[in-house]
Amino acid sequence: MRIPFHRPSIGAAEIEAVVRALESGRLGGNGEVCRRVQARLAEIAGVEHALLTPNATQATELALLAMGVSSGEEVLLPSFAYVGQANAILACGARPVFCEIDRATLNLDPADAERRVTARTRVVLPVHYAGVACDLDALGALAERHGLRLLEDAAQACGSRWRGRHLGAVGDAGFLSFHETKNLACGEGGALLTSDDALFRAAEIAQEKGTDRNAFLRGRVERYTWHARGGGHVLSDVLAALLEVQLARLAELTSRRLELWNLYHDGLAELDADGFIRRPDVPEQCEHNGHLYAVRARSPRLRDRLLDGLRRRGIEATFHFQPLHASPFAREHLGTGDLRLPVTEEAAATLVRLPLFADLPREDVHRVIDEVSALCRSAAANV
Ligand SMILES: Cc1ncc(COP(=O)(O)O)c(C=O)c1O
Repeated sequence: MRIPFHRPSIGAAEIEAVVRALESGRLGGNGEVCRRVQARLAEIAGVEHALLTPNATQATELALLAMGVSSGEEVLLPSFAYVGQANAILACGARPVFCEIDRATLNLDPADAERRVTARTRVVLPVHYAGVACDLDALGALAERHGLRLLEDAAQACGSRWRGRHLGAVGDAGFLSFHETKNLACGEGGALLTSDDALFRAAEIAQEKGTDRNAFLRGRVERYTWHARGGGHVLSDVLAALLEVQLARLAELTSRRLELWNLYHDGLAELDADGFIRRPDVPEQCEHNGHLYAVRARSPRLRDRLLDGLRRRGIEATFHFQPLHASPFAREHLGTGDLRLPVTEEAAATLVRLPLFADLPREDVHRVIDEVSALCRSAAANV
């Protein structure tokens, strides 16, 4: 039997909510449903404001625009990151500066980021990989020392906390993703989180093509008009209705993921002890959301053997981020051809993500563990 890598958990309540939204006759965005979901998201994350967007990439662009990032300025981010964030930086006319990650967590290495600060640096944009928090103490201190804004990529981190605080709510702003592969999914979707009123107001305007339409919809102005640069970054109320149900299931969906995550973690302990793989590290102050289970094989050859062997056995396992600094675009247009980030390069070459989603049966996790074990133990000693 085939084991898919991922499948969203959509039940009768989600289907009913979408039908109700369609029947309401209001299909556009920033309506009543969007407002309810934003209020609930802000409450869950412990921030003053949440703004729904069609994806996390657009939330990034809004945050950067609202922070006033512009031409010639620089944004620090890990090379082991999603390509959308680098594009959002470019869309503001700024330059992404790729940094190294920490070997244990695969999150931004604050010391490496600090070495790359220049007079042009405006923002540090760390990724909470796998929903496990970055070293936010060190990153907060770095931002303060150099007068930078801290923008958290919490795309994978809905439901995750750091010292009790929701990820995306610790820096100046943060963002979540509700893409179909995320813990909560509405197909495509994202949200900007912030407690900074001025930043939020600027983001709201940028979200609605540079106009104050949001204030108009709330009855604060009589008609809306053009105030600033902006784009079309609004999520439809139909997708927000789907997200509303998923949000109500946050605790249930997170705990199912965590249960499966722990099954993998226990079941793969021996392979880790025997040096075939390295399991993920979760620092003590992090409460993670079981978003993904990724191991690192002891060599790129063993990783390729695992991906290939699992695929042949009907198990969809996959790699993750390809280092951005080594991409054809970055080499050609950002001059990163000589940049070496050894931890990033090694992580990308050895990482295997195993199937993990809320409705994955426990027996399937056991089967994946057995197949991974068999493939590792039958590998030649030099693989
Ligand atoms: C760490 C990270 N950041 C950003 C994104 C982008 O999310 P979206 O597809 O909602 O733009 C992803 C998506 O996979 C991600 O994993």
